[in-house]
Amino acid sequence: MIPNVDNDSLVYLNGDLVRLGDAKISVLDRGFIFGDGIYEVVPAYRGKPFRIHEHLARLNRSLKKVRIDTGKSDAEWEHLLRSMLQRSGLADCMAYLQVTRGVAKRDHGFPDEPCEPTIFCMVSPFARPDAHKREHGMSVVSMPDLRWLHCDIKSVSLLGNVLAKQFATDEGVDDVVQFRDERLSEGSSCNIWMVKDGVLCAPLRDEFILEGIRYAFIQELAEEAGIPFEARTILRDEVEHADELMLSSATKEILPITQYDGRAVGSGTPGPVYARLRAGYDAAIAAL
Ligand code: PDD
Repeated sequence: MIPNVDNDSLVYLNGDLVRLGDAKISVLDRGFIFGDGIYEVVPAYRGKPFRIHEHLARLNRSLKKVRIDTGKSDAEWEHLLRSMLQRSGLADCMAYLQVTRGVAKRDHGFPDEPCEPTIFCMVSPFARPDAHKREHGMSVVSMPDLRWLHCDIKSVSLLGNVLAKQFATDEGVDDVVQFRDERLSEGSSCNIWMVKDGVLCAPLRDEFILEGIRYAFIQELAEEAGIPFEARTILRDEVEHADELMLSSATKEILPITQYDGRAVGSGTPGPVYARLRAGYDAAIAAL
């Protein structure tokens, strides 16, 4: 029995549907041995995936960057995700998809003989951010970004992110805001947004952050709402004096950050730019 999960739910593993409690991979899987794999998290509302084509485009980008070739087409990935979502019967849920380089003799370099990538997909229920989080916001602490320089790849090698999230938990807050050489990067598993003088700002989409699927989406929401947007280097000092801070991810959607390093952000309550983006986000989900 694996604690805290529905062991009876069916998951996809290398072409088969198996009980989660029975799903097994080899100890020589390179995902287990080296963290040699990538993943995606696709949220779904009322059983319908949100921004699936953007998620598939990022899946392909990650696979290409780590040179894993599954031979699967977009149509096949989409069919896999949609059929798993449908089979789950869940309303608000998320599809987790992981691809590793496969099983081979332990050797850092890619296997000489091509090996079959391991493909795993599961669907789990997902609780949308509740009223308390939306109305009171999230608390964060700042910390140095100690991760590698390929944060643009949605890699399963997540030890840096795991330790960052645990640092937040140990500090009694919801998440971290990381800085690399005084420049804002991102949270432990989310993108960070800043508002100053009515302008919505986000860090550049470079190798220091994962480009969230919500990045372009929130940019679109800002455009529709007439909120000026800038992608640029954001310095620590600016974050400390921001009018509003927010975070975004598949599961957190968009949430205000109201406490930063023990101090109130702006007025200490969710700000007007957040309210407009949140309204746009909710409307897009309702229209799905
Ligand atoms: N994390 N940055 C990092 C490091 C992330 O892990 C995530 C998402 C994001 C936001 O990406 P998106 O908007 O596509 O969810 C940014 C997912 C949810 C996770 O690891 O569970």
